[in-house]
Amino acid sequence: MSKKVHIESYGCQMNHSDSEIVASILAKDGYELATSPEEADLVLLNTCSIREKAEYTVMQRINEMNNLKAKNKDLKVGVLGCMAERMKEKLLVEKKVVDLVAGPDAYRTLPQLLEEVGSGQKAVNVLLSREETYGEIEPVRLNSNGVTAFVTIMRGCDNMCAFCVVPFTRGRERSRDPQTIVEECRQLVANGFKEVTLLGQNVDSFKWKARSDDQKTRRSENTGTRSVDPLGRQTITGTTDFADLLEMVAIACPELRIRYSTSHPKDMTDKVLAVMARYDNICKYIHLPVQSGSSEVLKRMNRGYDREWYMGRVASIRKHMPDCAISTDIISGFSGETEEDHNDTLTLMAEVSYDMAYMFKYSERPKTLAARKHADDVPEDEKGRRLSDIIAVQKLSSAKRMASYVGQVHEVLIEGVSKRSSEHMYGRNTQNAVVIIPRYASYELVAGDTVRVRIVSATAGSLQGEHIGSVNEIVQEA
Ligand code: SAH
Ligand code: SF4
Ligand code: F3S
Repeated sequence: MSKKVHIESYGCQMNHSDSEIVASILAKDGYELATSPEEADLVLLNTCSIREKAEYTVMQRINEMNNLKAKNKDLKVGVLGCMAERMKEKLLVEKKVVDLVAGPDAYRTLPQLLEEVGSGQKAVNVLLSREETYGEIEPVRLNSNGVTAFVTIMRGCDNMCAFCVVPFTRGRERSRDPQTIVEECRQLVANGFKEVTLLGQNVDSFKWKARSDDQKTRRSENTGTRSVDPLGRQTITGTTDFADLLEMVAIACPELRIRYSTSHPKDMTDKVLAVMARYDNICKYIHLPVQSGSSEVLKRMNRGYDREWYMGRVASIRKHMPDCAISTDIISGFSGETEEDHNDTLTLMAEVSYDMAYMFKYSERPKTLAARKHADDVPEDEKGRRLSDIIAVQKLSSAKRMASYVGQVHEVLIEGVSKRSSEHMYGRNTQNAVVIIPRYASYELVAGDTVRVRIVSATAGSLQGEHIGSVNEIVQEA
């Protein structure tokens, strides 16, 4: 009888994507996916360390594993991901219920680690790698809607933003072979998927040097040269940057919608914006985390740009793609943040008028530059008050942006049945806004359909629309 594994993912999209690599490695090792933790022989928690609260959530979940083990003595529990990397062996000491600890670059060794665990030992591998990209591993899609998927294009981060734990938990930045990325996207299309999100902590620093450079192509080192054969197969020589990669995927998979995350304001190039503008299948949406509107704070955060530079990048996006949506991440109450700095954040938000934002209170993380050099000196309730200001400004911007869509016709990719009503479907427009549409029009809509929708009303969180035809139909506008 085969063994069953249950995998739970916490944290960012990259962690969710990694869990699909883990599922693939374990499938080759004879594991099937369990439908619940109660049914499993092995429970793996793929964890996040980004803020203290994220770790607290996982610690609670680890404690719950004691109850499961009480019911099933043979159950094994493993901790993967960023917390495994940050805490290492300490996790085994603090939490007796944990049998295995594996960091983000150690997943290929899971079969060996599980063998050790099987013989009654505890197993740990938290070695970080400079090369590991799991490039050729075909992920097993977990919790998939069959329509949208993530593809990791690079791992790690070399940026050392003062507040951030990621460089410590994910190691050095490395890019994945573009051919394997294109191949994975093609495979997704073959399996019926309609949208892909290319993932990296800083996609704009994607860089791949072809190994078999010959003298002839060496001259084009900085641009990357792509040739396409009559079957549409692409060969790259020289260096491939993120703009080249985006274009390769857009050409190789013209039917696939392409998104990506995350852009770094200091590295986002006009070349990328030009490629986005050129291809209809690249979605007009950019996640461009600003973190703070104060140049002083940005400097202490070691972000590598100031307010003026950031606003220049926003202007360039608007110039290349007037309809492009922009979202952001903001931290309130970073070390030394004054009321004036906070106001700078509010005015920047009002100036950009973001479509959407992820907003957080600063949480000091061990080992980071900020933890070593700057005091966590903004009181907790002050962080909270500033966060509410930030949320209030964002609410206004989101509502304004959503209202501006009313009356327009948008192309919407249907992702599934609405959670609120089985009579409605939900999907997204190119700007990544959620659109709700009646399920039955002249025919029943299904996940994976791309339809033309007239937006009839809006809230700060979603748009409501009416289906006016498939994308291929020519619609007579009244
Ligand atoms: N690579 C991405 C960020 C990944 S982490 C980038 O550079 O933008 C996602 C977000 O979590 C960050 O953008 C930041 O806003 C937030 N974050 C990271 N560390 C944090 C901390 N110590 N406290 C609060 N928020 C944090
Ligand atoms: Fe963290 Fe900065 Fe790297 Fe983003 S770019 S993962 S915030 S160190
Ligand atoms: Fe969390 Fe690690 Fe992602 S710390 S946000 S899971 S890279």
